[in-house]
Amino acid sequence: MSVDLSRSHRVAALLLCTTFAGNLPLAASGAASPEGSRAVVRSIPDDAKADRFVNGLLKQMTLPEKIGQMTQMALNGPADGATPEEHARRGEVGSFLFVKDAARINALQHEAVDHSRLHIPVIIGFDVIHGFRTIYPVPIALAASWDPAQPERAQTMAAKEASLTGIKWTFAPMLDIARDPRWGRMMEGAGEDPYLGARMAEAQVRGFQGAKIGEPDHILACIKHFAGYGAASGGRDYEESNISEEQLENVYLPPFQAAVKAGAGSLMSAYMDLNGVPATGNRWLLQDVLRERWGFNGFVVSDWESVKSLSTHGFASGPEDAAVRAVNAGVDMEMTSHTMRDALPAAVKDGRVKQATIDAAVRDILMAKYRMGLFEHPYVDEARAKSEMVTPEQRAAARAVAARTAVLLRNEGGVLPLKKSIQSIAVIGPLADSKPDTMGSWSLAGHYDDTVTVLEGIKRRFPSGVTIRSAKGVEIARGSKTIFDEQFQSPQPTLTTDAERDAEFTRAIAMVKASDVSVLVLGESQDMSGERASRSSLTLPGKQEELLEAAVATGKPVVALLMNARPLDMTWAATHALAMVEMWYPGTEGGNAAADVLFGDAVPGGKLPFAWPRSVGQIPINYARNLTQIPEDTDHRYWDGLSTPLYPFGYGLSYATFAIGEPKLSAATVRAGGSVVMSVEVTNKGTMAADEVVQLYTHQRAGTASRPVRELKGFKRVTLGAGETKTVEVTLDTNELAFWSPGTHARAIEPGMFDVWVGTDATATGHMTVQVTQ
Ligand code: NOJ
Repeated sequence: MSVDLSRSHRVAALLLCTTFAGNLPLAASGAASPEGSRAVVRSIPDDAKADRFVNGLLKQMTLPEKIGQMTQMALNGPADGATPEEHARRGEVGSFLFVKDAARINALQHEAVDHSRLHIPVIIGFDVIHGFRTIYPVPIALAASWDPAQPERAQTMAAKEASLTGIKWTFAPMLDIARDPRWGRMMEGAGEDPYLGARMAEAQVRGFQGAKIGEPDHILACIKHFAGYGAASGGRDYEESNISEEQLENVYLPPFQAAVKAGAGSLMSAYMDLNGVPATGNRWLLQDVLRERWGFNGFVVSDWESVKSLSTHGFASGPEDAAVRAVNAGVDMEMTSHTMRDALPAAVKDGRVKQATIDAAVRDILMAKYRMGLFEHPYVDEARAKSEMVTPEQRAAARAVAARTAVLLRNEGGVLPLKKSIQSIAVIGPLADSKPDTMGSWSLAGHYDDTVTVLEGIKRRFPSGVTIRSAKGVEIARGSKTIFDEQFQSPQPTLTTDAERDAEFTRAIAMVKASDVSVLVLGESQDMSGERASRSSLTLPGKQEELLEAAVATGKPVVALLMNARPLDMTWAATHALAMVEMWYPGTEGGNAAADVLFGDAVPGGKLPFAWPRSVGQIPINYARNLTQIPEDTDHRYWDGLSTPLYPFGYGLSYATFAIGEPKLSAATVRAGGSVVMSVEVTNKGTMAADEVVQLYTHQRAGTASRPVRELKGFKRVTLGAGETKTVEVTLDTNELAFWSPGTHARAIEPGMFDVWVGTDATATGHMTVQVTQ
């Protein structure tokens, strides 16, 4: 999508608005707006018909109707005695969230369309994060595929089920860079790296929205949480983020910019303070960066009550001031707190909020509804919304995507893939047969019963003839309530005495002893990861480590299969378990996908989207850091342990081994703005077709600011048959070398010498240089 933001185009767009909308006093200012007068910077509409329609409607709306459009309600609010249906009928609401039933959605829609004065449909939003009814692997897993086609496919399929249900708007993708795995929401993003994050961002926007907003079977994306939420202090969810200008511009913002460029239709402002200014009241973020610099032309919704909490931050003086400051900063719709609804009528009257600001917000909301086809087709077919869920096509896609997200961390003596000739297998662990935990957090429209656990997947593979033993061995529980308990819950412990727990442990280890091989399904229950699921340690919860160590002590082959969404302390396992495979929270078809991977019907080819620390004390340990004093000693910065990660960023094994040849660049010199092509021969030395991910890292040797020792700037996942050699090409676009310099406070490609490394993780050794010229 290209958006022309030149001043003349903006003025033309605004004149067009004025023509159709009467005498709206729209201000066409490109400059950062002074407090209380949000500049109305809107890009030229791409569709004159849409524009005419929306502006015509806007002209007829009263102020309360406009504020209604800016209001998003949960079914239980606001507490004014009116039902959601009444709110819809009175035109007091623009959007509902958390309704997932097609009949109820149609009912609400009928109220809005048939009975409200201007017949404006509502837009239903829902957290379609990794699937709707059919659950796909969690987003961090999708990133681990290192294959943008996987998130695109998953979100396309998710969009279809949501759209059939009447949900036309998802609060996804989450684009927050996460470099602190104590933060539970790492599961919802693409990990630590801005380049990988940007590719996954674009892919998800394409998946949700299709090629263009309003494509059938697609939904509107909402990129979130703008911006810097992943840097929550101490990994504690909701805490403030303090991010340097350099890190914000070069690390935290790029995935958002990529998603805006890919056409994301809406954006959610974050909860927390960013460098002392709450994101939801941050005009620099929402106006100067988002609209002015990037040309975003969608609408902005706050996060849950984040408008109201502008006063909690000690920023706004109270709810009224919060509403005024949020809307003047650039928030168009308020999620669930109702400060705008209550405060804006008076604020517009006394001029604290300009009518033009309200009109600009409402216009963008109406435009999104129009583009989504809601004015023409507000209702859904309730029969299809039942019959077209969890179809065989959905299941096949979910299974294939889940297998492609698996990361093989260790495989000693080729224990994996498991021999199909095995006679007995023990499937042990608290997560081995748990449906909610196989689905993962944010599976709120998923049904437990649809889901295939690892135990079930293995049983289906061996309908007869093989002895399959199974026990939990230990139970785990978070031990504190979560915000989702009423809607979605992990199984709770059933063993109540130490004697019962000891007996279960002993029973499991006896099964390990009696079986040819054991798969220990370990990790975190789904409620240990996600929103409000931060941790202060990374150890395996409960007695899982003891279970693993006792299983290994039997001398029988043990495979650790992990279900989690953050790196855990697996340092002992990394040298003792024969094999370790990261399956993440793999979703509805997770158990089948796990069986595919374990038995070699799918060959793991995913790579870590974060550096895996040895222990919590190493955080942060992201690979892209700057070199400083005594660089040869960076592995030994602690006297009490290594300062290298357990597994580097980009790491992952395969059942095949690969030989990577000498990489070559198509030119030794390139002009800034141009590109060079890296080519390298990759050979599959194994006996089965398998995937490798070729990764390209760069380093700028000198410039106006120090640059990270390595930065990912290109990658390609390729499939090679047994014994096959392919020349893999990755384009290095010098525009990717541009960075925001804290030395000049500007973004530029700085000419000079760059190192280029090619390999299969962030420790890549194939080295070249390229000179970038003016
Ligand atoms: C709060 C979360 O932070 C956000 O990500 C989510 O979309 C909303 N709640 C709605 O569920």
